[in-house]
Amino acid sequence: MLFAKSGKKALGPCEPRIIVTRGKIAKNLWHAIILPCLLWVYPMRILGIESSCDETGVALIDSEQGLLAHALYSQVAEHAEYGGVVPELASRDHVRKLMPLIREVIANAKANPGDIDAVSYTAGPGLVGALLVGAMAARAIAWSWGVPAIPIHHMEGHLLAPMLEDPRPEFPFLALLVSGGHTMLVHVEAVGRYSVLGESLDDAVGEAFDKTAKLLGLGYPGGPALASLAEQGSLDRFAFPRPMTDRPGLDFSFSGLKTYALNTMEKLDGGAQDKADVARAFEQAVVETLLIKCRRALRETGLRRLVVAGGVGANKRLREGLQTMVRKEKAEVYFPRMEFCTDNGAMIALAGLIRYEAGARGEATFAVRPRWPLDELREPA
Ligand code: KG4
Ligand code: ZN
Repeated sequence: MLFAKSGKKALGPCEPRIIVTRGKIAKNLWHAIILPCLLWVYPMRILGIESSCDETGVALIDSEQGLLAHALYSQVAEHAEYGGVVPELASRDHVRKLMPLIREVIANAKANPGDIDAVSYTAGPGLVGALLVGAMAARAIAWSWGVPAIPIHHMEGHLLAPMLEDPRPEFPFLALLVSGGHTMLVHVEAVGRYSVLGESLDDAVGEAFDKTAKLLGLGYPGGPALASLAEQGSLDRFAFPRPMTDRPGLDFSFSGLKTYALNTMEKLDGGAQDKADVARAFEQAVVETLLIKCRRALRETGLRRLVVAGGVGANKRLREGLQTMVRKEKAEVYFPRMEFCTDNGAMIALAGLIRYEAGARGEATFAVRPRWPLDELREPA
């Protein structure tokens, strides 16, 4: 039973349904009665490993007590001088940092490897070399401990991250996933039942932040740097477009906003105030575009819960704007805490725990998937 001792409401990975077939009755009995009893007697512990891009994340989670320990190493400083992530450097750094982080997490949790029931790891999408480091390490450790290794979709990790918080969102909900590689609106019925309602046709929103920050001469990663420069900017000077909000649908397009920022800058002297004003106008355009699409998706689906995840979910103005919007829509919004908006091991451990509790045991063969559509995922076994 997830986090029963932490005082959080238990989470049902597969909500019991009344279906009149023998197989389904047995499955429902398993999930509704037998599994919770077993978990009560034997809590489960999962070690989660994240290595899809430029952060090495490790966490240990317990089905009764919640998150026991987590640790993160960010490679930002290594990549900053190149203005973006260098895949080969990322892989090498994961090799250096992963084992020390695993030892640190197990020690901080005061756990023994013998108490760990499975190892979950990010199997995609992401940089192939970086994914391979985490996958090989996870599978080797799991093999040596005699436990399963469970592959996890990175965006499923982000999407479930708000379930590490209290209160935890209940299914079904609408998820806004906004990271460096993805911008998606997803109808989430249950774990593994995802329908993508809209996504970016070009740049992901985090990518647009990073590219615009670069042309403003800001360092990598650009999102937080641009957001902090925007604090000194004025909203009255430039009116940036709100792309694709003038037509029906839930898709996004952010590459035009970056070009708009470039064209605006070319007409100016490029002084500090110019840059701050462009940053402010860009950020406002992104935030309002996301707000309009989220409101539209809530109205069209009738869903009343919005979950926001991914690195851009750390943006202060986006968080404030969404809070105001959902209040007017009589809905609720759920965010992970700031440190779990960006990549981390806790979300991969949680996704691993939910899938393991539902019966997932990984496979003998495996492949990492640099590209992996979210709606190819299925409910846990
Ligand atoms: O989820 P994440 O850590 O990694 C991916 O899976 O991509 O997201 C990283 C992205 C980067 O593009 C970064 O610039 C952006 O999230 N980001 C932000 C903020 N913090 C991180 N963008 C805008 N405002 C922020 N405060
Ligand atoms: Zn991510």
